[in-house]
Amino acid sequence: MPNFIDLKDLSKDQLFDIISLSIECKNQSHSKFMLDKHVVLIFEKPSLRTRISFEVGINQLGGTTYLLNEKEMQLGERETIEDTARVLERYADMAVIRCFGHSQIKKFSTVSNFPVINALTDFSHPCQVVADLVTIKECFGDLQNKKIAWFGDCNNVLQSWIEASVLLDFELHIGCPEGIKPNQKTILWANERNKKIKINHNPLQVADGAHCVITDTWQSMGDKKLISEEIFLPFQVNKNIMKQAQDNAIFMHCLPAYRDKEVSSEVLEGQQSVVFDEAENRLHAQKAIMHFCMN
Ligand code: CP
Ligand code: NVA
Repeated sequence: MPNFIDLKDLSKDQLFDIISLSIECKNQSHSKFMLDKHVVLIFEKPSLRTRISFEVGINQLGGTTYLLNEKEMQLGERETIEDTARVLERYADMAVIRCFGHSQIKKFSTVSNFPVINALTDFSHPCQVVADLVTIKECFGDLQNKKIAWFGDCNNVLQSWIEASVLLDFELHIGCPEGIKPNQKTILWANERNKKIKINHNPLQVADGAHCVITDTWQSMGDKKLISEEIFLPFQVNKNIMKQAQDNAIFMHCLPAYRDKEVSSEVLEGQQSVVFDEAENRLHAQKAIMHFCMN
């Protein structure tokens, strides 16, 4: 049974299938393919959207959830990750894990014999980007020839965006301060493939002609790097940035958002913002991701 740890583990067709199925899940009531299935949710970090969209989705599909929150479970603390995985697979049919270290979820998924879904690590956030791709497809009808512009920090959500850009062959322009860089191994990996990733420190050039403008918090959960907000300020998504993008460009943010930091209140609340459709699409995307893992 497949895991869902990183988008780069998928083929292009598998990712397209998950996106199409997410839209089907949104538009029609779905078969209860999780009837009598038991899913353990391990959340070492806070979550609103990811946790609740998985819980609601699993319940709607007939399954049952068991939450281990940050007070009850820190992977590798009370017992080894290997032992935790080998016990849980005896009780449950799937694990959804939000943890700090990516190596922890990799280790968990390597030793266990049930599907493991990455609900965010310090390295990547693939479930989020599936929902984002669904949102773009809904807004524009397809994902072909789109320019995606990312602003601000080079974090876990961006990592999954880079992987999606390579897989689906769209242009991803990254606007970030000097000295803030995406994972260099990932950039090498991307450049060996289709060279669709452009890093630029001029925010207006990054926004120029973009179909989709995206940002995220400047300080991710558990991020210990001490960087002054000032260096990020030129990369705030505001009306000057949106003006450079296509007239029908959309603004996306995985949320939670910090108003007037990474995005102006005006843009977040403006006509081009689709952040709540994007948040809703988490629910439909989680169902498609679970279907992929259970079939
Ligand atoms: N976007 C997202 O993953 O939100 P949560 O941290 O609330 O799950
Ligand atoms: N980059 C953010 C995403 C939150 C959903 C974080 O890791 O905190």
